[in-house]
Amino acid sequence: MFKLNNETFDAKHRVAWGITGCGDKLRETLEMMKDVKEVYAGGLDIEVFLSKAGEQVAKYYRIMGELEEHFSRVWVESDANSPFLAGRLQLGDFEFLLIAPATSNTVSKTAYGITDTMLTNAAIQAMKAMVPVYMMPTDYREGTTVTKLPDGRDLKLKVRREDAENVRKLVAMDGIFPFERPEEILGIFTKYIGHKEAS
Ligand SMILES: Cc1cc2nc3c(=O)[nH]c(=O)nc-3n(C[C@H](O)[C@H](O)[C@H](O)COP(=O)(O)O)c2cc1C
Repeated sequence: MFKLNNETFDAKHRVAWGITGCGDKLRETLEMMKDVKEVYAGGLDIEVFLSKAGEQVAKYYRIMGELEEHFSRVWVESDANSPFLAGRLQLGDFEFLLIAPATSNTVSKTAYGITDTMLTNAAIQAMKAMVPVYMMPTDYREGTTVTKLPDGRDLKLKVRREDAENVRKLVAMDGIFPFERPEEILGIFTKYIGHKEAS
Protein backbone atom coordinates (compact mmCIF):
# COMPACT_ATOMS: atom_id res chain seq x y z
CA MET A 1 0.00 0.00 0.00
CA PHE A 2 1.18 3.57 -0.61
CA LYS A 3 -0.41 6.99 -0.18
CA LEU A 4 -0.37 9.82 -2.72
CA ASN A 5 -2.24 13.13 -2.40
CA ASN A 6 -4.46 11.60 0.32
CA GLU A 7 -5.37 8.60 -1.85
CA THR A 8 -4.28 5.07 -1.03
CA PHE A 9 -2.98 2.75 -3.74
CA ASP A 10 -2.72 -1.00 -3.55
CA ALA A 11 0.84 -1.89 -4.48
CA LYS A 12 3.98 -0.78 -6.20
CA HIS A 13 3.50 -0.50 -9.94
CA ARG A 14 6.25 -1.77 -12.20
CA VAL A 15 6.84 -0.60 -15.74
CA ALA A 16 9.51 -1.41 -18.34
CA TRP A 17 10.78 1.58 -20.31
CA GLY A 18 12.58 0.73 -23.56
CA ILE A 19 14.82 3.33 -25.20
CA THR A 20 15.94 2.82 -28.81
CA GLY A 21 18.84 4.49 -30.62
CA CYS A 22 16.84 7.63 -31.25
CA GLY A 23 18.21 11.11 -30.63
CA ASP A 24 14.96 12.77 -31.68
CA LYS A 25 12.77 13.59 -28.62
CA LEU A 26 15.20 11.72 -26.33
CA ARG A 27 15.81 14.62 -23.94
CA GLU A 28 12.08 15.54 -23.85
CA THR A 29 11.15 11.91 -23.11
CA LEU A 30 13.71 11.67 -20.32
CA GLU A 31 12.39 14.86 -18.71
CA MET A 32 8.83 13.53 -18.88
CA MET A 33 9.86 10.18 -17.36
CA LYS A 34 11.63 11.97 -14.50
CA ASP A 35 8.40 13.93 -13.88
CA VAL A 36 6.34 10.73 -13.91
CA LYS A 37 8.75 9.11 -11.44
CA GLU A 38 8.38 12.10 -9.14
CA VAL A 39 4.57 12.13 -9.34
CA TYR A 40 4.30 8.49 -8.29
CA ALA A 41 7.32 8.57 -5.99
CA GLY A 42 7.68 5.31 -4.03
CA GLY A 43 4.66 3.71 -5.70
CA LEU A 44 6.28 3.24 -9.09
CA ASP A 45 9.30 1.25 -10.14
CA ILE A 46 10.65 1.92 -13.65
CA GLU A 47 13.36 -0.29 -15.14
CA VAL A 48 15.14 1.05 -18.23
CA PHE A 49 16.05 -1.19 -21.18
CA LEU A 50 18.36 0.31 -23.78
CA SER A 51 18.79 -1.22 -27.22
CA LYS A 52 22.45 -1.51 -28.30
CA ALA A 53 22.01 1.61 -30.40
CA GLY A 54 20.06 3.13 -27.52
CA GLU A 55 23.15 2.90 -25.34
CA GLN A 56 25.30 4.53 -28.06
CA VAL A 57 22.85 7.38 -28.50
CA ALA A 58 22.33 7.84 -24.74
CA LYS A 59 26.10 8.23 -24.38
CA TYR A 60 26.20 10.66 -27.31
CA TYR A 61 23.45 12.74 -25.67
CA ARG A 62 25.18 12.32 -22.27
CA ILE A 63 22.14 10.99 -20.40
CA MET A 64 23.50 7.68 -19.02
CA GLY A 65 24.24 9.23 -15.63
CA GLU A 66 20.71 10.64 -15.32
CA LEU A 67 19.16 7.31 -16.26
CA GLU A 68 21.20 5.55 -13.57
CA GLU A 69 20.41 8.23 -11.01
CA HIS A 70 16.63 8.35 -11.49
CA PHE A 71 15.56 4.80 -12.37
CA SER A 72 15.88 1.58 -10.41
CA ARG A 73 17.78 -0.48 -13.02
CA VAL A 74 19.38 0.30 -16.39
CA TRP A 75 19.83 -2.68 -18.67
CA VAL A 76 21.57 -2.80 -22.08
CA GLU A 77 20.65 -5.18 -24.88
CA SER A 78 22.96 -8.08 -25.44
CA ASP A 79 20.71 -9.99 -27.85
CA ALA A 80 16.98 -10.46 -28.53
CA ASN A 81 16.49 -12.53 -25.36
CA SER A 82 18.95 -10.93 -23.02
CA PRO A 83 18.38 -9.15 -20.81
CA PHE A 84 15.26 -11.34 -20.46
CA LEU A 85 12.76 -8.53 -21.00
CA ALA A 86 10.43 -10.49 -23.28
CA GLY A 87 10.26 -13.33 -20.75
CA ARG A 88 9.73 -11.03 -17.81
CA LEU A 89 6.87 -9.28 -19.62
CA GLN A 90 5.24 -12.63 -20.33
CA LEU A 91 5.69 -13.66 -16.69
CA GLY A 92 3.84 -10.54 -15.57
CA ASP A 93 6.76 -8.64 -14.04
CA PHE A 94 5.61 -5.36 -15.62
CA GLU A 95 2.20 -3.75 -16.06
CA PHE A 96 3.07 -2.43 -19.48
CA LEU A 97 5.97 -1.84 -21.84
CA LEU A 98 6.71 1.69 -22.98
CA ILE A 99 9.14 2.17 -25.87
CA ALA A 100 10.00 5.85 -26.26
CA PRO A 101 11.43 7.29 -28.33
CA ALA A 102 11.21 4.60 -31.03
CA THR A 103 13.43 4.62 -34.12
CA SER A 104 12.07 3.96 -37.60
CA ASN A 105 14.04 0.69 -37.36
CA THR A 106 12.17 -0.56 -34.27
CA VAL A 107 8.82 0.68 -35.61
CA SER A 108 9.18 -1.02 -39.00
CA LYS A 109 10.37 -4.32 -37.49
CA THR A 110 7.47 -4.32 -35.03
CA ALA A 111 5.03 -3.52 -37.84
CA TYR A 112 6.20 -6.66 -39.64
CA GLY A 113 6.54 -8.94 -36.60
CA ILE A 114 10.35 -9.09 -36.70
CA THR A 115 11.78 -9.94 -33.27
CA ASP A 116 15.55 -9.90 -33.72
CA THR A 117 16.33 -7.17 -31.16
CA MET A 118 15.57 -6.99 -27.44
CA LEU A 119 12.91 -4.28 -27.84
CA THR A 120 11.16 -5.61 -30.95
CA ASN A 121 11.12 -9.07 -29.38
CA ALA A 122 9.78 -7.62 -26.14
CA ALA A 123 7.03 -5.72 -28.00
CA ILE A 124 5.83 -8.74 -29.99
CA GLN A 125 6.06 -11.21 -27.06
CA ALA A 126 4.24 -8.74 -24.79
CA MET A 127 1.41 -8.49 -27.32
CA LYS A 128 1.19 -12.32 -27.39
CA ALA A 129 0.87 -12.32 -23.60
CA MET A 130 -1.71 -9.50 -23.75
CA VAL A 131 0.56 -7.07 -21.92
CA PRO A 132 -0.04 -3.57 -23.31
CA VAL A 133 2.70 -1.97 -25.40
CA TYR A 134 2.96 1.81 -25.79
CA MET A 135 5.32 3.07 -28.48
CA MET A 136 6.31 6.62 -29.42
CA PRO A 137 7.63 6.60 -33.01
CA THR A 138 9.46 9.82 -33.80
CA ASP A 139 8.77 9.45 -37.53
CA TYR A 140 5.04 9.64 -36.88
CA ARG A 141 3.66 11.57 -39.86
CA GLU A 142 5.05 12.24 -43.29
CA GLY A 143 6.72 15.62 -43.71
CA THR A 144 9.65 17.23 -41.96
CA THR A 145 10.70 17.38 -38.34
CA VAL A 146 13.29 19.44 -36.47
CA THR A 147 15.35 17.68 -33.84
CA LYS A 148 17.82 19.11 -31.30
CA LEU A 149 21.42 17.92 -31.38
CA PRO A 150 23.28 17.46 -28.06
CA ASP A 151 25.05 20.81 -28.63
CA GLY A 152 21.67 22.58 -28.98
CA ARG A 153 21.77 23.01 -32.76
CA ASP A 154 18.64 22.17 -34.79
CA LEU A 155 18.68 19.41 -37.40
CA LYS A 156 15.89 19.26 -39.98
CA LEU A 157 14.95 15.74 -41.11
CA LYS A 158 12.48 14.27 -43.55
CA VAL A 159 9.90 11.80 -42.24
CA ARG A 160 9.54 9.26 -45.04
CA ARG A 161 6.12 8.17 -46.23
CA GLU A 162 7.10 4.53 -45.68
CA ASP A 163 8.00 5.16 -42.03
CA ALA A 164 4.72 6.99 -41.42
CA GLU A 165 2.88 4.08 -43.09
CA ASN A 166 4.53 1.66 -40.68
CA VAL A 167 3.16 3.73 -37.81
CA ARG A 168 -0.34 3.37 -39.34
CA LYS A 169 0.21 -0.42 -39.34
CA LEU A 170 0.91 -0.27 -35.61
CA VAL A 171 -2.19 1.85 -35.04
CA ALA A 172 -4.26 -0.92 -36.64
CA MET A 173 -2.59 -3.68 -34.59
CA ASP A 174 -4.13 -5.22 -31.44
CA GLY A 175 -2.30 -4.67 -28.17
CA ILE A 176 0.02 -1.84 -29.20
CA PHE A 177 -0.79 1.82 -28.72
CA PRO A 178 1.36 4.24 -30.71
CA PHE A 179 1.43 7.87 -29.61
CA GLU A 180 3.13 10.96 -30.92
CA ARG A 181 4.37 13.28 -28.17
CA PRO A 182 6.27 12.91 -24.89
CA GLU A 183 3.55 15.03 -23.22
CA GLU A 184 1.19 12.06 -23.62
CA ILE A 185 3.30 9.82 -21.38
CA LEU A 186 1.92 11.02 -18.05
CA GLY A 187 -1.61 10.19 -19.28
CA ILE A 188 -0.54 6.61 -19.97
CA PHE A 189 0.67 6.22 -16.39
CA THR A 190 -2.44 7.83 -14.91
CA LYS A 191 -4.55 5.35 -16.86
CA TYR A 192 -2.84 2.46 -15.05
CA ILE A 193 -2.01 3.98 -11.70
CA GLY A 194 -4.52 6.73 -11.01
CA HIS A 195 -5.38 10.25 -11.99
CA LYS A 196 -2.77 12.52 -10.53
CA GLU A 197 -1.67 16.05 -11.25
CA ALA A 198 2.07 16.64 -11.47
CA SER A 199 2.89 18.64 -8.31
C1 LIG B 1 23.47 9.96 -32.47
C2 LIG B 1 22.45 9.13 -33.22
C3 LIG B 1 21.15 9.56 -33.25
C4 LIG B 1 20.17 8.81 -33.95
N1 LIG B 1 18.89 9.27 -33.97
C5 LIG B 1 17.95 8.58 -34.64
C6 LIG B 1 16.60 9.06 -34.68
O1 LIG B 1 16.25 10.10 -34.13
N2 LIG B 1 15.67 8.31 -35.35
C7 LIG B 1 15.99 7.12 -35.97
O2 LIG B 1 15.09 6.48 -36.55
N3 LIG B 1 17.28 6.64 -35.95
C8 LIG B 1 18.26 7.33 -35.31
N4 LIG B 1 19.54 6.87 -35.28
C9 LIG B 1 19.87 5.63 -35.99
C10 LIG B 1 19.53 4.37 -35.13
O3 LIG B 1 20.26 4.40 -33.92
C11 LIG B 1 19.83 3.09 -35.94
O4 LIG B 1 18.90 2.99 -37.01
C12 LIG B 1 19.78 1.82 -35.10
O5 LIG B 1 20.02 0.69 -35.92
C13 LIG B 1 18.45 1.64 -34.38
O6 LIG B 1 18.45 0.45 -33.63
P1 LIG B 1 17.31 0.20 -32.54
O7 LIG B 1 16.00 0.48 -33.22
O8 LIG B 1 17.45 -1.27 -32.19
O9 LIG B 1 17.59 1.06 -31.38
C14 LIG B 1 20.53 7.60 -34.59
C15 LIG B 1 21.87 7.18 -34.54
C16 LIG B 1 22.81 7.94 -33.86
C17 LIG B 1 24.24 7.45 -33.81
